[in-house]
Amino acid sequence: MHHDDLRPGALFNDEDSNTSANLPFEQVLATRLSRRSLLRGGAAATAAAGAALTGCATPMASGEGPAPVAKLGFQPVPHSLADSVIVPPGYTAQVIYALGDPLGADVPAFKNDGTDERWDLRAGDHHDGMEWFGLDAQGKPSDTFASRGLLAMNHEATTDEKRSSFFIHADGGTANLPRPGAEIDKELMIHGLSVVEIQRNPKGWSYQPASAFNRRVTTLSEAVITGPAAGSAHLVTPFSPGGTKARGTLNNCGAGRTPWGTYVSGEENWYGYFFRDAQDDTRRNDPQMTAALNRYGRKAGAASRHGWESGGTDDRYSRWNISATGASARDDWRNEFHTFGWVVELDPYSPNTLITKRTALGRFAHENVTFAKATAGEPVVAYMGCDARGEYIYKFVSSEKWDPADAHARNRLVAGDKYLDRGTLYVARFNADGSGDWLELSLKNPAVKDFKGFDFKNAADICVFTRLAADAAGATKMDRPEWAGVNPKNGEVYITLTNNSQRSSATVDAANPRAYTDMKGSKTQKGNVNGHIVRLAEARPADASFRWDIFLFASQADGDKTNVNLSNLTDENDLSSPDGLVFSKATGVCWIETDDGAYTDVTNCMLLAALPGKVGDGGARQVTSGDKTVTTQAGKPQTPATLRRFLVGPKGAEITGITETPDGRALFINIQHAGENTKMADVNDPDKYESQWPANAGYGAGKRPRSATIVITRNDGGVIGT
Ligand code: FEO
Ligand code: CA
Ligand code: CA
Ligand code: CA
Repeated sequence: MHHDDLRPGALFNDEDSNTSANLPFEQVLATRLSRRSLLRGGAAATAAAGAALTGCATPMASGEGPAPVAKLGFQPVPHSLADSVIVPPGYTAQVIYALGDPLGADVPAFKNDGTDERWDLRAGDHHDGMEWFGLDAQGKPSDTFASRGLLAMNHEATTDEKRSSFFIHADGGTANLPRPGAEIDKELMIHGLSVVEIQRNPKGWSYQPASAFNRRVTTLSEAVITGPAAGSAHLVTPFSPGGTKARGTLNNCGAGRTPWGTYVSGEENWYGYFFRDAQDDTRRNDPQMTAALNRYGRKAGAASRHGWESGGTDDRYSRWNISATGASARDDWRNEFHTFGWVVELDPYSPNTLITKRTALGRFAHENVTFAKATAGEPVVAYMGCDARGEYIYKFVSSEKWDPADAHARNRLVAGDKYLDRGTLYVARFNADGSGDWLELSLKNPAVKDFKGFDFKNAADICVFTRLAADAAGATKMDRPEWAGVNPKNGEVYITLTNNSQRSSATVDAANPRAYTDMKGSKTQKGNVNGHIVRLAEARPADASFRWDIFLFASQADGDKTNVNLSNLTDENDLSSPDGLVFSKATGVCWIETDDGAYTDVTNCMLLAALPGKVGDGGARQVTSGDKTVTTQAGKPQTPATLRRFLVGPKGAEITGITETPDGRALFINIQHAGENTKMADVNDPDKYESQWPANAGYGAGKRPRSATIVITRNDGGVIGT
């Protein structure tokens, strides 16, 4: 979420808590849903581009899946500052599910004027990570059906200025403290997850408002805590004196799909929702806990993003104040903070099951979770980024070996218990020579066991205070790790590093080699302004070492080709701040989404398609930043044949969440926070909105911008991107 250059109140990736000395080695009613084609690019309904028709024949082979496509078959979309979604000629984008849409037959249609109620059964805000879960004609889980399914998705956050989620309140809401409980109650419900059924009929795709599968999970939904930290003293709260339960999930950013067919979601910038008073350190008199709270972005005196703690004495408000004011952790909400920062597992096919917080995967600013291809008799392996400046890349290796029968487990959450509750967590160190090491985060690692910064006593401590354990291990500080994706062809792992305004010539290293200056109008931007994508090759996913290179250096096309535009990007494929990254299982195409604030003077955020190469397809390269030169490992430069822009979004929006039908003929993405630069004072003046999307695309009532899921299809019915 949220790029880096907005008004101060919105800087939720602005956390810089990693002061460790680690060296720089370092996603309606049918009558109201518009069926018309929205938003076609270029000459609208012109014939499909070039060689595109060959893609229609892409077969779904059994077992191994289809062969990766050899070439991209669409015309690149140009830069755009328009308030619309632009796709290539021959493609159509259609809005199917937006903020406020009813998820129950008895829920009134969304008025979109700030007076709507029943947020417990409406689409949440800021659609983010999303996964497809197929259904057959009888409504049973299906790996192959491509016209009926569930979308599980994250509702990460909300568009705010000052403190209020202003587009959901009639007059923008109350910015000053204390905030009215009635406003907060709505805000508590627009965060979390949703599961929504969608279907394709002859007129196109639509969501099913009355499906029994539809579900919301919010900041108030009960969660089960499992793994090493379950029952830890650090998780004892008045809600769960045994430390085995929590309430809600929050700021869910990236997502993933487990090999056993459940949804996993990362809690990212959750820390910013908590208040801690200025006297809290003195009162606690516990330097180690002070260090831990600081390391997770909550210094004493930290104000909360929305002031939820100010809503009244009911604990749905007071729990956002983590100051230690009572006699023990059972008497105040000091440990509520530790009940967030986890990977949450949900079974979309079972609406009555609770969400589970999987503590074995560590606690940090989780982005997505991507799994290596599951191999019989080998551990299950997952890759994860911690998105803040100078944070780390992690890998989880299960203790249990994969049993292919679990791909269709009768109880999917029991399979989750099996593979995600016991295992080993590692953090990445990138060496200058192109090698890398996965450093174990356990008491078996002397650097962790003997760490002076925190006295880790057991596995639970390491799970709760993962960032500190990673500091101890000597991990490499990266330029904001966002999504990880695994290339289905060769198992290589791609991780987006979105940008880092604080990377400097003093801290550049081989894996984060650029610190430069870029102008945005009259504004000077510094550091790794545009971000990059690093790539890892492992002999086997469970291995403790890897080789790496940098697949892509994001840059403006006119960036200095010696030290900045190292991937030789052109107008057809230049980009800034890569964030979402997913490999299509149908085509092998690597989809890259941006969440940018640096290049938005020239273009809105975008989706690009890449044909991946492999680690080592380029070579060593010198990069100079100020007075320092480092040698990095650069992948082969790009051309418009290997990387092209596929879509540009509306004003103020980030492009995020991406999934597809198994046949690759429908691609679903999320448009998050269109119009986020609108001022709260203008909430009743649509002419002053930065964006009126998706109303201006024919979707829904009111002109207030709404985050939404769109589906992209090819007019000839072919496979997307080919
Ligand atoms: Fe929610 Fe790191 O993006
Ligand atoms: Ca993200
Ligand atoms: Ca981001
Ligand atoms: Ca610029």
